[in-house]
Amino acid sequence: MSVSPAAVASSQQNSAADASSSASAPTQADLLDFVRRAAADAELIASLPLDPEGRTWVRLEGPGGSEAWLIGWPPGTGTGWHDHAESVGAFVTASGELTEHSLAVRLPAGGWKTLELADDVDRSRRLSAGKGRAFGRHHVHEVLNESTERHAISVHAYYPPLPLIRRFSRSGPVLRLEQVEQPEDWQ
Ligand SMILES: [Fe+2]
Repeated sequence: MSVSPAAVASSQQNSAADASSSASAPTQADLLDFVRRAAADAELIASLPLDPEGRTWVRLEGPGGSEAWLIGWPPGTGTGWHDHAESVGAFVTASGELTEHSLAVRLPAGGWKTLELADDVDRSRRLSAGKGRAFGRHHVHEVLNESTERHAISVHAYYPPLPLIRRFSRSGPVLRLEQVEQPEDWQ
C-alpha cells in the first residue's frame, strides 16, 4: 500500500503507527486509499440501492480484514453523534456532499452519562464528491447530508472492525451517552 503525504496530513490524529503494530494491519492511510479507490469506481457506486426514505448500506471487503461500507444518504439524513472505540477509519464522499461535525477532544472511556464540552472543541468540514478524511482512535463525529434535494453516497472503512459504537445526543455543550451498539445491531 502506498502512503501519500497528503493522506497522512489529513489524519486528525496520526496514530497510523499504532494501527500498524502487526505487519498486516491497515493504517489510516491504507483505509483512506481504499475508500478513495472505491468511491472512484463508478460501477460499484451505481450498484448501491437508493431509498428516498432512509439510508442504505452495502458491506464491502475492506483491506487487511477491515470493515467497509458503501452508504447512501437521502437529503436531510445523518448518523447522529457517535464514536468508534479503538478503531481508526476513513471515509470519502463518492457523490453529492456530506458534512462532518467532529469533536477535537478525547472523551472519557466510561463511567459518565453526561459531560459538558468546552467551547473550542467543535470542528466542521464539508466533503464534496472525491473529498474524504481519515481519523484516529476515539474519533467522535456526526455525518450529515444537509442537501434538501440531492442524495449523497460515501465509502467508509474501519480497522479493527468496529467492536461497538457509542451513540450520543447533544444539547448545546452537553453531550449525553444514549446507547452502546454492538455489531449485531447493525449487521
Ligand atoms: Fe462514524
